[in-house]
Amino acid sequence: MLLLIKNGTVINPGDKTEQKADVLVEDGRIKDITQGKPVKAERVVDAEGCYVMPGFIDMHVHLRDPGLEHKETVETGLRAAVHGGFTTVVAMPNTKPVVDNPDVVRYVHHKSQDIGLAHVLQTGAMTKGERGEALSDIEGMVEAGIPGISEDGKSVMDSQLCREAMTLAAKYDIPVLSHCEDIRLVNKGVVNADEHTERMGFLGITNAVEDVIVARDMILAKETGAALHLCHCSTKGSVEMIRVAKEHGLRVTAEVCPHHFTLTSSDIPGDDANYKMNPPLRTKEDVDALKKGLKEDIMDVIATDHAPHTAIEKGVGIRKAPFGITGLETAASLVMTELVEPGYLTIMQMAEKMSYNPAKILGLETGVLEPGRPADLVVFDPKYEYQIDPAEFYSKGKNTPFAGRTVRGMVKATVVDGRVVYEK
Ligand code: DOR
Ligand code: ZN
Ligand code: ZN
Repeated sequence: MLLLIKNGTVINPGDKTEQKADVLVEDGRIKDITQGKPVKAERVVDAEGCYVMPGFIDMHVHLRDPGLEHKETVETGLRAAVHGGFTTVVAMPNTKPVVDNPDVVRYVHHKSQDIGLAHVLQTGAMTKGERGEALSDIEGMVEAGIPGISEDGKSVMDSQLCREAMTLAAKYDIPVLSHCEDIRLVNKGVVNADEHTERMGFLGITNAVEDVIVARDMILAKETGAALHLCHCSTKGSVEMIRVAKEHGLRVTAEVCPHHFTLTSSDIPGDDANYKMNPPLRTKEDVDALKKGLKEDIMDVIATDHAPHTAIEKGVGIRKAPFGITGLETAASLVMTELVEPGYLTIMQMAEKMSYNPAKILGLETGVLEPGRPADLVVFDPKYEYQIDPAEFYSKGKNTPFAGRTVRGMVKATVVDGRVVYEK
């Protein structure tokens, strides 16, 4: 079947071009990118006034399947993904059971392939059960196709064990996706440690909780030669250390989540767990450093840390509720509204941080729009204004601090392997 996406502005981070053009798709791949050439196609998507971009790749998603299907399933997570313009998601391993062996990796991969919406790349845990005591079957999981290892939800606190996992990652040439949190330093904190949260009576999480492990993991990555990807960075200290590490030529990349560049801890209105996530919302100084880091390409990736929980789980207040907010269905609008429109990022940088760089880190063929490449793409209307309404989410998780917020930028269509899997 021939699919024609016509009259859009095609953003190709592969050669950094932006041009008004038509994209022709056949047999799951991009067949041609042309200007004003008449084509007869079986299906036409009108992209007038829209950007046609490589499909977004979310390097950090909690699909909750297996075992936590009351929060999300592979299917609801993928419906949310394509609604948000994501054509590939990287799934975190903190499920039940933990993804620490090839069987669970295959379960998620088979399930997502049967559903056929967006691609899922299931990461493997670094240690058995994410207990931090013994290495998981990393070799077996590499054979089963993991794109990287991660202990997301926490850090491997035993530095020797962490080094052994990194040595294996280097051997198999897969990245280590590092959640940086010294779990002893957290010391029962639930939000950022600052005056505002102290006045509200909450225990705080200091920047050192993150910064100490960012430093350690970069040192271990240097020693082992592993490619290190730092997940959901939230502090000014992280940005500063990553800047220096890159100047020294270290194989390090870093990601920022939309909530961490949009909100500060001062936006927490009261005891509302929709503002509770890990790492927490930080101060304006941190947010400014993250935005500057994104603008100057110190920070390579924007990922969501989509972490759905039920309304009941989140309804018990900040002290007791689990950490995490949903993100797949608000990310692109927040990037457009908070970063592109105010001039922090160009539209090309948005495509780099949401597609091209993740594809490079993960070794994927996608992330560029060129003839012959897989037809994973998104039609994005940058001007469409709307109010975020969690009732419209496809995700089971409605836990977002962005309900009622006015944003600009909306996904008009998502194409995966040449199939229109979402259209507004
Ligand atoms: O906010 C978070 N939610 N941070 C994490 O580290 C884990 C995640 C989850 O699994 O809910
Ligand atoms: Zn994490
Ligand atoms: Zn996470």
